[in-house]
Amino acid sequence: MTITMQEKHSLIDLANKARERAYAPYSKYRVGAALRTKTGRIYTGVNVENAAYPHTMCAERVAIFKAVSEGEKEFDIISVVTDNGGSPCGGCRQVLAEFGLDTVVLMADKDGKLVKETTVKELLPEAFTPEKLKS
Ligand code: THU
Repeated sequence: MTITMQEKHSLIDLANKARERAYAPYSKYRVGAALRTKTGRIYTGVNVENAAYPHTMCAERVAIFKAVSEGEKEFDIISVVTDNGGSPCGGCRQVLAEFGLDTVVLMADKDGKLVKETTVKELLPEAFTPEKLKS
């Protein structure tokens, strides 16, 4: 599967647009994500914070859970946009790993600049995946 630069930038733009809807009154760190499934559908997500801080949910997981709840479990690529091109947290890496280590991960900044392109495999070496539960 080849993903063109144009497709990558379109996913970054979608995540950046979604980021406007981030609910981040506490950290002020707004995150947007756009996840493309192998069927070509795109699910966006934003971080949703809570006055009870630990109940905050990351943008990436919102996008993944939206997709899974719609019956989509195979992903090609996810873009993550923050002010400074920050990388997905450990929890989001683990949740991404559940659905495949080859998913491409794009990190971009508020200007839509692609800061890093990598894969879940690279972000989470020796991941604990569903196969590991088999004896
Ligand atoms: N955040 C995400 O949405 N994704 C990440 O991968 C890292 C952190 C959010 C959670 C919280 O709302 C804010 O960024 C600061 O941690």
